[in-house]
Amino acid sequence: MKGLILSGGAGKRLRPLTHTSAKQLVPVANKPILFYGIEEMAAAGITDVGIVIAASTGAEIRQAVGDGSDFGVRVTWITQPEPLGLAHCVQIARGFLGDDEFVMYLGDNMLEAGLSGFVERFVSERAACAHAAPPAAQILLAEVSDPSSFGVAEIAADGRVVGLVEKPKRPRSNLALVGVYLFDRTIHEAVGSIEPSARGEFEITDAIAWLINEGHRVDHEVLSGWWIDTGKKDPLLECNRLVLDTFGGRIDGCVSGESSIEGRVVLEAGAKVVNSTVQGPAIIGSGSTVENSRVGPYVSIAADCRISGSQVDNSVILGRSTVTDVDRLSGSLVGRDSVLSRSVRSDEDRSGRRLSVMVGDHCRVEIE
Ligand code: TTP
Repeated sequence: MKGLILSGGAGKRLRPLTHTSAKQLVPVANKPILFYGIEEMAAAGITDVGIVIAASTGAEIRQAVGDGSDFGVRVTWITQPEPLGLAHCVQIARGFLGDDEFVMYLGDNMLEAGLSGFVERFVSERAACAHAAPPAAQILLAEVSDPSSFGVAEIAADGRVVGLVEKPKRPRSNLALVGVYLFDRTIHEAVGSIEPSARGEFEITDAIAWLINEGHRVDHEVLSGWWIDTGKKDPLLECNRLVLDTFGGRIDGCVSGESSIEGRVVLEAGAKVVNSTVQGPAIIGSGSTVENSRVGPYVSIAADCRISGSQVDNSVILGRSTVTDVDRLSGSLVGRDSVLSRSVRSDEDRSGRRLSVMVGDHCRVEIE
């Protein structure tokens, strides 16, 4: 079994951050989203992992991941010249995949349940019907309240997937496709047989629908636990909250002055909290300073940031950024090397209004 992680794409929904950096490297609880996926592959016993990257952001991702040995996997890099769709990723990965079975995983998705159980089921199901028709694919589905925004599966009484429709007007179920798929080599014929969709992409839903129409068996599993496509700000912040909720506290940094640490807070070595309150769950990266501020809950501050005279909750702040004298920063995603500040400050000035922003890398925001 091989692994294929899709880490290219355009990332339009996470602009402006994706103008300068790959969305899969945006940190959740101070760790790039992509790393969680690679760790899941390793935990499922998959050590041969191909990662599809875009020409624009590929170098940065390669540098962050290295050769995969830190994760216990061996990485093969596959550059996609243009984001022509998920099925196109399978097409260009053919040399790496050969005729092996593989798990395909969207590099900006996260699931609570992990991959092991899902992979084991496919392997044992195929072994059990070695002489009959084994499943050519196994898809993961989640119950959603708004199926018409997703790829939706229709399931027969025997559990086989009998239909798959992208964003249907009249959905046949509330079961949406989650970004994890298992395939055998039949998928290569499928991705070679489909045409681009109206949006100009080779859709994986069309390739799976092709398998079904050609009489191949497609199994499914309904996901338990949460699943998040982090490709937009608010789901990303939700993911950050869910992951922080699993953390215990750890204070390796320095707490001084009139400060208090409440609840589960991770303060990395080299981080400082001065005359401030940090309310967990929260994580503060090495080299960052929080002074005269109130931070948390649900805040991830990456390395080498400075938060001063401000209140911050439910936000993700990337490396080397500063937040100064902001009354209440909430529900925000702030890129690297950015500066958020109030240009005038007196007690009469302070409006106490909540500021919710999505700011890219190297930005400067001054609030009067
Ligand atoms: P999407 O989030 O569906 O697409 P996108 O990255 O182009 O984002 P947006 O819609 O905001 O422009 O992609 C899911 C994952 O698959 C993500 O990690 C990017 C990756 N991907 C590729 O590697 N190649 C592709 O051609 C596409 C469409 C996505």
